[in-house]
Amino acid sequence: MRIAVAGGTGLIGRMVTDAARSGGHDVVVISRSGGVDLMTGAGLDDALRGADAVIDVANVTTLSRAESVAFFGTTTERLLAAGKRAGVAHHVALSIVGVDRVESGYYEGKLRQEELVKAGTVPWTILRATQFFEFAGQILGRVPGPVAVIPKMRSQPVAAAEVAAELVRIAVAGPLNRVVEMAGPDRLDIAAMAREVLRAQGSRRLVLQIPAGRAMAEGGLLPTGEVTLGRMRFAEWLADTAAPRP
Ligand SMILES: NC(=O)c1ccc[n+]([C@@H]2O[C@H](COP(=O)([O-])OP(=O)(O)OC[C@H]3O[C@@H](n4cnc5c(N)ncnc54)[C@H](OP(=O)(O)O)[C@@H]3O)[C@@H](O)[C@H]2O)c1
Repeated sequence: MRIAVAGGTGLIGRMVTDAARSGGHDVVVISRSGGVDLMTGAGLDDALRGADAVIDVANVTTLSRAESVAFFGTTTERLLAAGKRAGVAHHVALSIVGVDRVESGYYEGKLRQEELVKAGTVPWTILRATQFFEFAGQILGRVPGPVAVIPKMRSQPVAAAEVAAELVRIAVAGPLNRVVEMAGPDRLDIAAMAREVLRAQGSRRLVLQIPAGRAMAEGGLLPTGEVTLGRMRFAEWLADTAAPRP
């Protein structure tokens, strides 16, 4: 099967690309560094020629509602329109558990992405995942200084590699035309994960957990109902991974 991975050079994108290649699939990577711009559409029709499925894990790092909605709105519209022209049979998008319960400018863009996928004419599946194990390191990298201030975020984090494998499995299995969820095996606070990452790095930085919005603090990011569970635990992942130094 030919699978196009939008954002295939990113954190989870590289894992999706590896998982699809190890499954024997023909993979096309869509990224600006590879000459395809999802904001302008440049190079997209060529990239999607002959693709059976698209897995969209493209991303913008922002807290701004306007920027997030512009990015996920435009890139999703372009991917769906080009997918339709190319005869793509399955559009798989990665979203976030609780995106419709927790208020955040970034999440507004993800909701726009979900709305467009659901309203589009390309058969689809949306996988909502919880925060990746890598998320604590990503946050530490974004808040400089000796004290990292992190809002209280109750999560049920999951290994990005397991989410990547699930995205490929979903793409191959065919469209469900519904939203499904994936989480890890344990509930943890992101601040506690960040402390563990710093300890593993031998860093002396401190983590200060501050109160967050009610929905986030009260478990709005936790899965409800039917959920696929990853098997890897955070401590195992940390022991196996050279966590990125913030
Ligand atoms: N982090 C988490 O805990 C978490 C949890 C659940 C879901 N997610 C979702 O996972 C997805 C991927 O996140 P990530 O952290 O892996 O992303 P990331 O590392 O920031 O990677 C972003 C990817 O998007 C590509 N990209 C950005 N702008 C582009 C454009 N205009 N045209 C084409 N490609 C473009 C980048 O390549 P170039 O720069 O070369 O263009 C890169 O391959 C996001 O949708 C996020 O919402 C994340």
